[in-house]
Amino acid sequence: MLKPDFSDRTVVVIGGTSGINRGIAEYFAAAGASVAVASRSQDKVDDTVAALKASGAAQAMGTAFDVRDAPEVSAGLAGFHAALGDFDVLVSGAAGNFPALTARMSANAFRSVIDIDLLGTAHVMQAAYPFLRRPGASVINISAPQSYLAMEGQAHVCAAKAGVDQITRTLALEWGGEGIRVNSVVPGFIEGTEGTERLAPTPQIRQAIVDDIPLGRMGTTRDMGNMCLFLGSDMAAYVSGAVIPVDGALSERGAGWLGKQMGDMLRAMPQPGGD
Ligand code: NAP
Ligand code: COA
Repeated sequence: MLKPDFSDRTVVVIGGTSGINRGIAEYFAAAGASVAVASRSQDKVDDTVAALKASGAAQAMGTAFDVRDAPEVSAGLAGFHAALGDFDVLVSGAAGNFPALTARMSANAFRSVIDIDLLGTAHVMQAAYPFLRRPGASVINISAPQSYLAMEGQAHVCAAKAGVDQITRTLALEWGGEGIRVNSVVPGFIEGTEGTERLAPTPQIRQAIVDDIPLGRMGTTRDMGNMCLFLGSDMAAYVSGAVIPVDGALSERGAGWLGKQMGDMLRAMPQPGGD
């Protein structure tokens, strides 16, 4: 298979220690890149760094921080830059999600998703800016279909990911003159991941989703890795400010069936404090 060579490139993946983002990090490692990852759990970071080395990374490193803590993010990215040099590719994908109706969720619950997904993305963008290669860096934000599809039980995520995509579009304008490209990739349902587990918790729901996907299957971390390798490579030299779904065309159906199903399920649950 034709694969870009990243052996002289530095790739940083924030939230890169499980699921989709880890799959992306391992994909770049297999293409020979030097790869750095970060997330809250030091154990997950250590496990991922070992896997990156085994996958073929030229160098691999990681550190633990919470994207909600801007000074920690800045210190972590400065450490990556000191060790690996300018960032050729930055993937920002740390996120949290749980299904909950807005009227039944605490203010802190709503805020926690905004803090991680939206403000966390802003922290990563601001901290990474001085370390991005000029010209040539490719920034990839990991978004979600909730960015443009209203979905019951997901107002917090819809708001946060719409904000992430507007950060993408705006930074493509602000940074384009320096030769930095900024894009969002929107995964659909990616099999075997936490996000899919949380939104599609039973085999019946997962099968119904697959039946609804025009390409007839859930996505894989490999599908996501392929898109990110393309965006990170010179093949995508003229692609910036784009929000690109990797979802088997599921978004084209809208969120109707799944959103309604989730809303009905959540409404049928007992209210906290109710009888
Ligand atoms: P996941 O396995 O839970 O990955 C989330 C990653 O972010 C983990 O490495 C986690 O590690 C890290 N993280 C979470 N909160 C953090 C914080 N406050 N600070 C730093 N790191 C943090 O989830 P996933 O399902 O693969 O999702 C990955 C991305 O794809 C997310 O942006 C999600 O919104 C998007 N997405 C996923 C799907 C899907 O089908 N799975 C669909 C649409 C969009 P720690 O726990 O160690 O912090
Ligand atoms: N329904 C309603 N509220 C919920 C909830 C749920 N299923 N899960 C958490 N919350 C609320 C908590 O009760 C808390 O609110 P409170 O202080 O008013 O009680 C608030 O959300 C924050 O929860 P907490 O567990 O303290 O936050 P955290 O910072 O430790 O974790 C989360 C952040 C909640 C987003 C957690 O799910 C997480 O770490 N997720 C990362 C993995 C993930 O979501 N992967 C999928 C990516 S798509």
